[in-house]
Amino acid sequence: MKTIKLNNGIEMPILGFGVFQVPDYKECKQSVLMALKSGYRLIDTAAAYQNEEAVGDAIKESGIPRQEIFLTTKLWIDHNGYEATKKAIDTSLNNLKVDYLDLYLIHQPYGDVHGSWRAMEEYYKNGKIKAIGVSNFQPDRVMDIIVNHTVKPAVNQIETHVFHQREEDHAFMKENGIMHESWAPFAEGKKDFFSNKILADIGENYGKSVAQVALRWMIQRDVVVIPKSVNENRIKENFNVFDFELSQGDMNAIKSLDTKETLFFSHRDPETIKWFASMIN
Ligand SMILES: NC(=O)c1ccc[n+]([C@@H]2O[C@H](COP(=O)([O-])OP(=O)(O)OC[C@H]3O[C@@H](n4cnc5c(N)ncnc54)[C@H](OP(=O)(O)O)[C@@H]3O)[C@@H](O)[C@H]2O)c1
Repeated sequence: MKTIKLNNGIEMPILGFGVFQVPDYKECKQSVLMALKSGYRLIDTAAAYQNEEAVGDAIKESGIPRQEIFLTTKLWIDHNGYEATKKAIDTSLNNLKVDYLDLYLIHQPYGDVHGSWRAMEEYYKNGKIKAIGVSNFQPDRVMDIIVNHTVKPAVNQIETHVFHQREEDHAFMKENGIMHESWAPFAEGKKDFFSNKILADIGENYGKSVAQVALRWMIQRDVVVIPKSVNENRIKENFNVFDFELSQGDMNAIKSLDTKETLFFSHRDPETIKWFASMIN
């Protein structure tokens, strides 16, 4: 597995497995087991996905030594702030049945993120979390964390796919030594993603699928990818992206798909913030 070095020296696999929208215990556990069996060593969950127990049980049952797995979970907005974040981390460790996390992210850029970050720094310094980072943070919000704390975010996980390529965010993160991690690498199938002609034509030259081309394109941009699937064949397909290399011409052709717009929601929109707040009130 190709890994990428974070700003604190920790190695993170460049390809992992996401479990968003898999709330069913049995289905989640089974798909994580299939992923681990297929060779994935990075699992991305979150308190909000309500499947940390299933992920933890799959890891235990797999028999793979804990230190060979890179495990990420995230802080939900209902536990923002210093004290609540400490409780949330302890709950996640407990649910996942592990004694440390490889990566812990603030899931959304709302509420008392500075209090949360202070708590995360404590867990980082006592070794219970190997790397700390953020998710859905725009460059200004990332900089606000950098200038106000001693530990810099190692990762920022943001919506990134062929239709929303995030070149400016990527350049900002590179300049500041923060790893860019993509969520929704397949745009969750929106905009007819899986039958996109440009990606399909490129794939044909290498005997690869649209999904594989999209993942390879991000890996070649040094973006960590965490595709989700509950289907064994697709889990294997998404992992099989290390035996070909896209040409510069292919990379340029994919660039033309960028609309520079979210397919989900803007984290800066006041209505989005109200909607998130209404979830916890
Ligand atoms: N930080 C955040 O706010 C945030 C937000 C969203 C997601 N995430 C993380 O990012 C991960 C990935 O994003 P995502 O789950 O939203 O979406 P995604 O990976 O872009 O798309 C998943 C969808 O694609 C299908 N699929 C997977 N592989 C396929 C293939 N080879 N061919 C055809 N269809 C395929 C899946 O269906 P099947 O399962 O039926 O195969 C599922 O419907 C999440 O699981 C989560 O860990 C984070």
